[in-house]
Amino acid sequence: MKSSELKQKYLDFFKAKGHAVIPSAPLIPENDPTVLFTTAGMHPLVPFLLGQPHPLGKRLTDVQKCLRTDDIDEVGDKVHHTFFFMLGNWSLGDYFKKEAIEMSFEFLTKVLKLSPPHLAVTCFAGDKDAPKDDESAQAWLKQGIPKERIAFLPKKDNWWGPPGTAGPCGPDTEMFYWGSSAPPPKIFDPKNKNWVEIWNDVFIQYHKTTEGKFLPLKQKNVDTGMGLERVTALLQGFDDNYRTELFWPLIQEIEDMTGKCYDQELVSMRIIADHLRAAVFILGDERGVVPSNVGQGYILRRFIRRIIRRMKVLGVNSGSVSLTSILARKTIEMYSSEYPLLKEKKSFILEELEKEENKFKKTLEQGLKEFDKIAAQGKMISGKDAFLLFQSYGFPLEMTQELAAEKNIKVDVVGFKKEFEHHQELSRVGAEQKFKGGLSGASAETTKLHTATHILNEALRKVLKEDIKQRGSNITPERLRFDFNFERKLTEEEIGKIEAEVNRVIKEKLEVVREEMPVEKAFQSGAHGEFGAKYPSRVSVYTVGKNYSKEICMGPHVKNTVELGKFKIIQEESSAAGIRRIKAILEK
Ligand code: SER
Repeated sequence: MKSSELKQKYLDFFKAKGHAVIPSAPLIPENDPTVLFTTAGMHPLVPFLLGQPHPLGKRLTDVQKCLRTDDIDEVGDKVHHTFFFMLGNWSLGDYFKKEAIEMSFEFLTKVLKLSPPHLAVTCFAGDKDAPKDDESAQAWLKQGIPKERIAFLPKKDNWWGPPGTAGPCGPDTEMFYWGSSAPPPKIFDPKNKNWVEIWNDVFIQYHKTTEGKFLPLKQKNVDTGMGLERVTALLQGFDDNYRTELFWPLIQEIEDMTGKCYDQELVSMRIIADHLRAAVFILGDERGVVPSNVGQGYILRRFIRRIIRRMKVLGVNSGSVSLTSILARKTIEMYSSEYPLLKEKKSFILEELEKEENKFKKTLEQGLKEFDKIAAQGKMISGKDAFLLFQSYGFPLEMTQELAAEKNIKVDVVGFKKEFEHHQELSRVGAEQKFKGGLSGASAETTKLHTATHILNEALRKVLKEDIKQRGSNITPERLRFDFNFERKLTEEEIGKIEAEVNRVIKEKLEVVREEMPVEKAFQSGAHGEFGAKYPSRVSVYTVGKNYSKEICMGPHVKNTVELGKFKIIQEESSAAGIRRIKAILEK
């Protein structure tokens, strides 16, 4: 079965069970200060898992573009990826464990026709925070999974979320399929690598507080996630995801380019294919970013640089030809029928890759020479030297670590970080930490700043010009950041006028009202949407005052503008050609 057929069967199955199909949210989350990328299908749905009603009801399903870097060191094996697609279905306070498990079992055995004697599951063993999950085990027994094929495991294995320090989470039950041609053993041993994890049903029924307490949620939810790449491979009889059509044409292109064979160069070719696909989807996202030294842009830069280094390992000397853009063309060709935005943004994607590649090629050669010199001096690369490679030659830390590992030497990572801070590159460190962090749900501060963003958006139209459009937004508990189309620097006077307009609206004590409506009606009513965003058929619209600002948005927002305090712009700068960026805060 092809991956596209698997996707379709998944969505059709859950549609027939009353789920609304929603589009994939962008890879780059908008108003979540705690993570850089969408890491799971549940991620864009957090407000709804916490109780906000979803315009399309209580049962949802989708195929979400996801990106995680926790597994980056694992990339190079058969099954780990940075970028991947997650099939998911959700119950927002509707069905719970029994029905979720029934549906999962039916899909696996009736639609995918996997043989029940090849299945096994794990359930949560229970601890001081939550009881043993007998309810799930009972539901599996009822489906015919024998006792010997149900393993109870602790929190480290059978608990999902919150992705950060606080937020929605709960026990999960994971499904495994016996991936070997040998007959499956009677008793399930989760440590046996032939059991391939294929699906995860999470029962989101707790809210972990920042103090580490697990409070029961009013609304009990189901959040499931199935990795498209892994299940496609399984259905096609491969134990290597890169052999499926999701990667294989790209691998062949790499083989052509290098004159080497996949079987002899597994690790490098897998890293190139994985990172290349990730880079194309980051650049080609609705909220696509360009390589830079901070945030998502820095992750993208690291991917591209790693690809180029790996190409060099494979002996390609490209001269002036851009290897990444050749591979990107292939990737766009493979994915654009399902992700047409990639085609629309093709020239942007190719140009940005080429620019970054040329930049890095200039320093790579010299950097490698410098590395060899440093490496010849001892068994450990000091923090200072790793930082020199980073700052002068653009070597991301993990590239230095990778090069060092090849020579059997270590890198002083702690020393590198110290050096980093010493050079006051705090913003980048912040971004790295943010990436490791997670979703904490909306705080009172981010909620206020979110409403302030809506008012600012409208104030810009009133003060500057009518056709201002939002081109990006990012909110942390401390400040808002807002990008919009405008050709030149704002004057002091304009900045003063914008602040005054926002503060006038705040003082007017306007109500903020949420309504649900079909997406066409929302646009007809004059609601603003985000440039290039894909919306589901029903959306929520937030209106400030009678008609001051109207935006399609997931929320959450304050009830009345008076809650916001005093609005102050702290920075105005260029963000890209024709795009300005404002940073602003709220003072008490
Ligand atoms: N959120 C869960 C996961 O990522 C299920 O989708 O595995």
